[in-house]
Amino acid sequence: MDDSRETFGPNAFVTGFPVRHSRSPLIHGYWLKKLGIAGSYRAYEVAPADFAAFIGSLKDQSSGFIGGNVTIPHKELACQLADSPDELSQELGASNTLWLEEGKLHSTNTDGHGFTANLNARHPGWDKHETAIILGAGGASRAVIQAVRDRGFREIHVVNRTAARAQELADRFGDKVYAHPMGALAEVMKGAGLFVNTTSLGMDGETAPAIDFSPLDSNALVTDIVYVPLKTPLLKQAEEQGFAIVDGLGMLLHQAVPGFEKWFSKRPVVDDELRALVVADMEKHR
Ligand code: ATR
Repeated sequence: MDDSRETFGPNAFVTGFPVRHSRSPLIHGYWLKKLGIAGSYRAYEVAPADFAAFIGSLKDQSSGFIGGNVTIPHKELACQLADSPDELSQELGASNTLWLEEGKLHSTNTDGHGFTANLNARHPGWDKHETAIILGAGGASRAVIQAVRDRGFREIHVVNRTAARAQELADRFGDKVYAHPMGALAEVMKGAGLFVNTTSLGMDGETAPAIDFSPLDSNALVTDIVYVPLKTPLLKQAEEQGFAIVDGLGMLLHQAVPGFEKWFSKRPVVDDELRALVVADMEKHR
């Protein structure tokens, strides 16, 4: 690995393929500056064929990195190649955060933490319900299902266009998780207190189907893990129908906290200034 990393402090990375759209360097760069830490955090594009070698250089410590983030398409392989993936990431089969400790490469997945920490900050009390609806059964829904289950929801209904994918997740995440085809949505929404969109419906200006949220509990929260646009068509509809909403940007910001703390030994804070910085960046690259 070439380059001009600072040698004064710990060096961390984000790797994906592609990785140029990642906002992680902006987020960690903000915290490094704010906390006055002499470290670095940079993006490295690593092709799938080179990823195992990249992990090898981390493990033998020839890369000079203390750890980093892993994004699409490397999350599954990162979990498999880590010496010590934690329980969360083993259950998900995917890791997004790596760090070296006493010569071993550890891994976890902080997406679920990002999801819950965002709702804790933006809508305290969101977890005082028994039933949650998760729309979508792709990679991104897994950490949400796990987080909602671990938070104590008793019934988690995963509703997906391809019902077999929802069933796979119900099998993986245990007896509180139920799988349904899209046609069952209105029925399973009855009385539920949390609705999470994990599909790409309405992303980047795409149209989204009309959803009648009225079967939900009147105090239900509707949230989306998509954050481009910030107020997705589904969130807009839910708000117009009188429901509380939380956008998905905070999940991105909060999922970065545990990694930063591991690498740089200080717990950073997700504040309004950081959020504004990322929003401005999103507007710049629209
Ligand atoms: P990710 O890993 O980002 O979650 P993914 O694995 O491609 O991405 O999953 C995308 C999710 O959005 C899936 O739940 C997908 O439904 P299918 O499993 O049936 O493919 C859902 N999705 C995407 N486009 C959709 C559409 N037009 N209507 C309904 N669901 C859609």
